[in-house]
Amino acid sequence: MVLITIEGIDGSGKSTLVSALRELLSDLDPLFTREPGSTWVGEQVRRAIAEEIDPIAEALLFIADHAVHVSGVIRPALAEGKLVISDRYRDSRYAYQAVTLQGVLPDPLSWLKDIHAGWSITPDLTFLLVLPVNEALSRMDRGGALEHFETADLLEDVQRQYLALAEEEPSRFLVIDAGKDEREIQEFVADSIRQCAGWSRSRRRH
Ligand code: ADP
Ligand code: TYD
Repeated sequence: MVLITIEGIDGSGKSTLVSALRELLSDLDPLFTREPGSTWVGEQVRRAIAEEIDPIAEALLFIADHAVHVSGVIRPALAEGKLVISDRYRDSRYAYQAVTLQGVLPDPLSWLKDIHAGWSITPDLTFLLVLPVNEALSRMDRGGALEHFETADLLEDVQRQYLALAEEEPSRFLVIDAGKDEREIQEFVADSIRQCAGWSRSRRRH
């Protein structure tokens, strides 16, 4: 029925928001899902991130994970009329891999869009959590090594790329100031999802 995605750089508050939405939207019985996924393909993606393999191979693994996610989870759930909420989705590639493939391919974003064309499903609504990179990094309290994506320079470029995507498609993206109070963000996002789901239901009835 409706596909909602939540995007933003590492440490922007996506997981915190999703766990609050589980409670705030429980009456709508949404399906919560994420990328990278929990299949063996998703496990290989995590391994690829940890081992810092060739950036094209890494991008193709993320895309393979997306293909399994779309055909095995998203498409069947939407066909059943479910509200689906995904923590990261296609725009994560259009933001992160557009940066990691810079200098490797002549036009990474076009290459990424071409590979997704014809089979991936475009979200109805995408929340983009935006905050200064130094705040995101200081929020990430892992007590261990950061993933190779988690450097200030890379995340600056990734966030710039996310904002460019939002500018390209202003009717799909809702840009959220992720520095705001957690509860305020959660209630705003929950209300917006309710509106989107309600609108879609009435559209289907006519
Ligand atoms: P992500 O899933 O995007 O990597 P998390 O949800 O794990 O981010 O949030 C990273 C850290 O920031 C967590 O410690 C979380 O408690 C904190 N956090 C999340 N949202 C906010 C917020 N609005 N204000 C302050 N801290 C936040
Ligand atoms: P994730 O497990 O969502 O990390 P976090 O919860 O810290 O945001 O994603 C792992 C890393 O993979 C993260 O740095 C973002 C990156 N990533 C991509 O580069 N491309 C993608 O398509 C996806 C889904 C994630």
